[in-house]
Amino acid sequence: MSKILAIESSCDETAVAILDGDKLLANIISSQVDVHRKYGGVMPEIASRLHLENIAVCLKEAYEQAGLKAEDMDAIAVTRGPGLIGCLHVGLQAAKALAFAHHKPLIPVHHLAGHIYANEYVGELKFPLLAVVVSGGNTELVYVDKPMSFHIIGETMDDAIGECYDKVARVLGLPYPGGLPIDQHAQKGKHTYDIPAPLKGHKDYNFSYSGLKTSVVNLVHKLKQNGEEIRLDDMCRSFQDVATGMIVERTVKAAEEYQVKQVVLAGGVSANSDLRKRMQELFHNDVELIIPPLWCTTDNAAMIAKVASHLYEEKLFAPLSLAVDPNWKIDHYRDF
Ligand code: KG4
Repeated sequence: MSKILAIESSCDETAVAILDGDKLLANIISSQVDVHRKYGGVMPEIASRLHLENIAVCLKEAYEQAGLKAEDMDAIAVTRGPGLIGCLHVGLQAAKALAFAHHKPLIPVHHLAGHIYANEYVGELKFPLLAVVVSGGNTELVYVDKPMSFHIIGETMDDAIGECYDKVARVLGLPYPGGLPIDQHAQKGKHTYDIPAPLKGHKDYNFSYSGLKTSVVNLVHKLKQNGEEIRLDDMCRSFQDVATGMIVERTVKAAEEYQVKQVVLAGGVSANSDLRKRMQELFHNDVELIIPPLWCTTDNAAMIAKVASHLYEEKLFAPLSLAVDPNWKIDHYRDF
């Protein structure tokens, strides 16, 4: 049983968690979303500065909540990538300082492995499984044949699905982050707009969300130029059907091809109500579905601690010369 302190700062949440065996003793998240909303998206430079301001406060709160201190830990874990370079730096430097000062091993954790393993807070992972990673920065289908063994079988060739939601929301005049407002409007709308699904019928499992975004942007501009009313609920419904349909279609195909025991949703977009509903309808017999609770769909350090607890067992520790990697691939999570 290990005591792990984990830090997450890859985007716009500063987070610290303390995990003792399978007991989550502290889970502190300081979200910057209200600041970035003004700009309609995450401003990397501002995000880094806010991480710097927040990290010590989050650490202090985590120690208080857990009734433990850094010296009580067995290891310090941190998100090394992928993410925004300046943001990752802040978390890594904090983790290195703690590891150095308290003579603790440093565990570098892949952010998406965190999103996938967040599901261990819900139930046992059964292998082989298919992880559907849908977030603000990533869209990947990951085949996990055994514990901590990741193979990317499909990924976005351009934008991530969450990024697409956020950009479409901006064009429709909805607030950032756009996922939830679009989801809410979609519940009241009908699929009446014709929006083509990019790469439909392709043989591989890749995605293109930039193409989808451009279709919606062009459609909205055309309607505006023609002086036509944009029926917001219907537009959101039409867009959401296509955006989530692309995920569902490929997931069904891959689950069958790879003969998986489980399908696991991961990342911020797994909060989407239609995606959850469709997946629940499709996977309930031979293939089990795990859906993360809403508290761990967005970025947090509890998921980083979970991965670290596995890496601690195999002593996958990093030297203090460790650097961040904004483009770290999940199938190379042992290379640092
Ligand atoms: O996992 P996350 O914090 O991002 C990264 O780590 O990259 O997810 C944030 C993303 C945002 O793009 C947000 O718009 C989207 O998740 N999101 C949703 C929903 N709730 C949040 N997208 C679709 N439907 C939702 N209900």
